[in-house]
Amino acid sequence: MCGIVGYIGNKEATPILVEGLRKLEYRGYDSAGVAVLKEGKLQVIKAEGKLSFLESKLLGKNPTGNIGIGHTRWATHGRPSDENSHPHTSCSEDFAVVHNGIIENYMELKEWLEEQGHIFSSETDTEVVAHMVEHYYKGNLEEAVKMTLDKIHGSYALGVICKNEPDKLIAARKDSPLVIGIGEGENFIASDIPAILSHTRKCYLINDGEVCVLTPETIKITTISGEIVNKEVFNVSWDAEAAEKGGYEHFMLKEIHEQPVAFRKALSGRIAENRVKFEDFHLPLETINKWKKVYIVACGTAYHAGLVGKGIFENLLRIPVEVDIASEFRYRRPLVDEETLVIVISQSGETADTLAALREAKNKGASVLAITNVVGSSIAREADFVVFIWAGPEIAVASTKAYTTMLVAEYLLALYLGQLKGVVSEAEAKVIIDALHSLPEAAIRVLNEVDRYKEIAEEFKEKHDAFFIGRGFDWAVALEGSLKLKEISYIHAEAYAAGELKHGTLALITKETPVIALCVQKNTYDKTLSNIKEVKARDAEVLAIAIEGDTEVGKYVDDVLYIPDIYNFVAPILTVIPLQLISYYAAKARGCNVDQPRNLAKSVTVE
Ligand code: M6R
Repeated sequence: MCGIVGYIGNKEATPILVEGLRKLEYRGYDSAGVAVLKEGKLQVIKAEGKLSFLESKLLGKNPTGNIGIGHTRWATHGRPSDENSHPHTSCSEDFAVVHNGIIENYMELKEWLEEQGHIFSSETDTEVVAHMVEHYYKGNLEEAVKMTLDKIHGSYALGVICKNEPDKLIAARKDSPLVIGIGEGENFIASDIPAILSHTRKCYLINDGEVCVLTPETIKITTISGEIVNKEVFNVSWDAEAAEKGGYEHFMLKEIHEQPVAFRKALSGRIAENRVKFEDFHLPLETINKWKKVYIVACGTAYHAGLVGKGIFENLLRIPVEVDIASEFRYRRPLVDEETLVIVISQSGETADTLAALREAKNKGASVLAITNVVGSSIAREADFVVFIWAGPEIAVASTKAYTTMLVAEYLLALYLGQLKGVVSEAEAKVIIDALHSLPEAAIRVLNEVDRYKEIAEEFKEKHDAFFIGRGFDWAVALEGSLKLKEISYIHAEAYAAGELKHGTLALITKETPVIALCVQKNTYDKTLSNIKEVKARDAEVLAIAIEGDTEVGKYVDDVLYIPDIYNFVAPILTVIPLQLISYYAAKARGCNVDQPRNLAKSVTVE
């Protein structure tokens, strides 16, 4: 994910910016750049690839000056390239901008600016900000930035400098993290604390709608409309490593807690008047109508997301969907042709088996749509259509926020196709969209139950085996829950379709095998209760995951975790969160290496 650092003071800015960017490398990026101002000259140097490429370029150009902004970019709008790297400048090259987030209305702003004669040199959404600031600039940078903020929709953490005002660094925030570092005779901006931690431990944490004007000696914070904001200084007590993890003990925990923000990003700019649209493609109706069948192909967690996808697509589109493990797909002569849509799902976009399946599907004439997190990845490049999940980098090997945002992408995609085909009514779309919008708040409530997850994990930590059961969507989520527990805590776990247990596996249930029973899906609720009674009769300890207000299930189980009652069709996105957290705390209690479990890699590029 993109990173920002900015400096104003009496030292050379470039080394401070590069050092700050280095501290943000862990977040993942594909290009980097700096803009430094000296004696009315704005020097902008950017490079695709690793920070070392930028450093080589800097050696040749040696930009000097006491004010500057720097950025590591993780491509969203526009592929990774020198041109698309930040900072972006205006036509006159008087203004330079770094930005994290997404400007949702950039296309319409770009058209408007082009009509005014502005010429764009990148494919990014960010570049509109530089041109707009130039458009509104009448001798006051702060005013020009605020007028720009009034017009842009979306999310941003911004850093802006201007050739004509070399004693000012402006920053602003909406839905993207921003901190101001307080120094002596110098001040800093950053998207994350690690970028400035070697210079200061005193910060202001900036909130949405706030604009900051920094000089070497002063920091002024106002709202966009100009009211002064008084803030308390935040003293950072974390060490550098903890700061990278945002104060969380592990990346996995941080990423689990990032889910509400990730949901907002995944939905951002994709829904207008209860209709879904995607930024990068529009599918003609003839293409959609040609598809008689859908295959979803993926590995691991992404495959589990595909199993939920089957239910989503079949329900909304009434079209047959098969879900396949990528390493199996190509070796069994799949029945795929020009009338098939193959959806490949991959967080990294580099999983070798999934990539091979994509190529196999294309060879057979199918249309291939990728759901992925990484712009510029092999899968994103080779697919015919791409839906990005916008989860931000996922560093822990165990996938969490990528799984839930894959589900969000599947709901959006099914709605999009269903609306184009005319098989999803406006009323139905509205109910689902309202539920998707309610996800961030609902997820925050689920995340708040930390003490309960810790307590349950303590009970699990001595166990050797566990079972996860459920039906329909609950079964699909059970599979993901059991994978999470296995891969990070090394407790053997099985997920079973609850009704299938009695056909053999029930023989394994004893009082030593705890069972997590998912009772969220209403259409199978009574049946799952019966299955719970079957395992209880074999002395298993049962923990149920159920919906708030359920007064029944507690009568039959040992413990219940309740999740908010959102529209049942989108509930899988919430159901998995307690399972992620129980697995996390169980692994931690067992002393496992949570972020890098044994024998596993984040990106599996061998078949
Ligand atoms: O990058 P991908 O989504 O293609 O990765 C697929 C699997 O390797 C991955 O989901 C794996 O199962 C997870 N790390 C498990 O948490």
